[in-house]
Amino acid sequence: MADLPIITDAAAPLPDGEASLAAVRRQADNCRACPLWEHATQTVFGEGPAHAAVMLVGEQPGDQEDVAGRPFVGPAGRILDRALAAAGIDRDDVFVTNAVKHFKFLQRGKRRIHSKPNASEIRACRPWLARERRLVRPRAVAAMGATAVLGVFGEAMPIAKNRGRLIELEPEGVAIVTVHPSFLLRLLPDKARQDEEFAALVRDLGLLRPFLAHAA
Ligand code: URA
Repeated sequence: MADLPIITDAAAPLPDGEASLAAVRRQADNCRACPLWEHATQTVFGEGPAHAAVMLVGEQPGDQEDVAGRPFVGPAGRILDRALAAAGIDRDDVFVTNAVKHFKFLQRGKRRIHSKPNASEIRACRPWLARERRLVRPRAVAAMGATAVLGVFGEAMPIAKNRGRLIELEPEGVAIVTVHPSFLLRLLPDKARQDEEFAALVRDLGLLRPFLAHAA
């Protein structure tokens, strides 16, 4: 296969067109629109059914996702899987992705410590999320955490005030906002608080169930 051009401006029209998710994924592999590609192992693109009715958006790949090249396969992914199951949603039915497609971290000895993407990194990555949305055309999108909110809406929005309802999304569909699953990890050892927040996450995700084709 011919080498794909390096993409330094993710918002620029794509040289090879945007016929399919697979094509966009290959182009995203070469994205240099922000500095995060340099230290990450690879671009972690979204995955799931090509025309999923529901899209879940997280923050950025973590350490395990960076190595595996797949979103939400580490500890936050395990919480997400549990919450989806409790909400009656099969993960295989939803498209799972992130607002930022490269792992941002600080190296501490052998450990890679997660570092929050900044506004310009989130902005640089928005065109990839927009392309995923344009191709998948989900009826409902969940923005999980502040970074996802910025990626999906292009502006900040307080999660506590806006969770629990459907929000109109441009150019089509609806969205919900909720906490990021890794927020729950940080609540331990307060198990009671974690249980409460887990139940709230399950309630939020439950708002998506009617959008899935086979939902009752
Ligand atoms: N956190 C995220 O936001 N996304 C992942 O893929 C993993 C952890």
